[in-house]
Amino acid sequence: MSNKTAILKEIIENRRIIKPEEFNGKIIPESMIREILPAANWAPTHGLTEPWRFIIFSGKEGVQKFGQLHADLYKQETPEEQFLQKKYDKILHKPDHASHLIVIAMKRGKQENIPEQEELAATACAVQNILLTASTSGLATYWGTGGMCYHPSLKKYFGLGAEDKIMGFLYMGYSDKEHPKGFRHTGIEEKITWM
Ligand SMILES: Cc1cc2nc3c(=O)[nH]c(=O)nc-3n(C[C@H](O)[C@H](O)[C@H](O)COP(=O)(O)O)c2cc1C
Repeated sequence: MSNKTAILKEIIENRRIIKPEEFNGKIIPESMIREILPAANWAPTHGLTEPWRFIIFSGKEGVQKFGQLHADLYKQETPEEQFLQKKYDKILHKPDHASHLIVIAMKRGKQENIPEQEELAATACAVQNILLTASTSGLATYWGTGGMCYHPSLKKYFGLGAEDKIMGFLYMGYSDKEHPKGFRHTGIEEKITWM
């Protein structure tokens, strides 16, 4: 195995999702975020549609603003008899210890011949590029969905069209917790058919 391959494999295998509740509240310098984001733009993309879009909330005030708007949408869009104060509070406070929160979106282009699933795949690759680059920068990251992630009101809030998709929330920050060990139920051989 070449040195480059060994380094890349090590980076891939050691990337971990860390829950935002385990972040320590330390703020990432804006310059580091700007260093990391261009990695997203090198995801593979059929027809160069480059469908990934990122809406960034920065710093304590920024992430709290996101928590507030997310919780408000939950309240506004949930029938009174289904509304849960506990869920509202959870949505509101989830980003409290994060430094940055990035809303991950897939924006459909004009090339309708490119299937939606390919645009989703390209955007997921862009996110993985961010996760890996952030990991090598010593950051904690969390890709979460939940809350109003898939509700049309959130897309509307961000000016996205009905054909676009929000694919999750990327929380970024620092954590003092020991880096968690990776776990998978089965090895790759069980997911491969050699023909
Ligand atoms: C599209 C997507 C959505 C996810 N949503 C959540 C989520 O809502 N809550 C959560 O705890 N983890 C979520 N995760 C993270 C997974 O839980 C995490 O990747 C998994 O536990 C494996 O951990 P690892 O990535 O550190 O190996 C999501 C991951 C992906 C790819």
